[in-house]
Amino acid sequence: MGSKVLATAVLLMCATVATVGQARRPRNSSLFLESLTGRDSFEFYCASCHGSSGMGNGPVASALKTLPANLTVLARRNSGSFPKERVASLLRGEEPGLAAVHGSTEMPVWGPVFRFLDPSDARVKLRIENLVAYIETLQVK
Ligand code: HEC
Repeated sequence: MGSKVLATAVLLMCATVATVGQARRPRNSSLFLESLTGRDSFEFYCASCHGSSGMGNGPVASALKTLPANLTVLARRNSGSFPKERVASLLRGEEPGLAAVHGSTEMPVWGPVFRFLDPSDARVKLRIENLVAYIETLQVK
């Protein structure tokens, strides 16, 4: 758990760096994850806040001012249909409401972070698609 907290802190710093400078990192960062499966990405980048189950109860959740969203009820809250496009654009960093203004949210803007960590646009795209598909599998009925 300690290392997860640290990884999250480093990630948040990366998010800042990634939005400020456009320099690309080779794949030598300890935050670079080779696996592109949705489950692995979720465990590595998201579970510290959202919990492995996606319910919003990860180990660092209680340290945040804004509680991480419960990602298992996105479909239920959207008349039973999983809001795939909205989640995808949120992860790409295109969703206006959330995280548009720096400091307004504790949810990192992932698109720039993934692009910073991974020199391949194709891999970044696939990682986000797989994450969205994985979150869809976490939905409660
Ligand atoms: C540092 C903690 C943290 C991490 C790590 C994190 N999130 Fe979040 N996330 C949040 C918080 C806090 C919110 C609620 C933001 C708000 O309400 O302003 C949120 C909200 C969301 C939402 C919006 C849910 C809704 O109700 O519309 C999605 C989707 C999401 N996160 C997905 C992810 C994914 C996928 C990852 C991993 C790539 C991730 N998050 C990693 C903290 C985090």
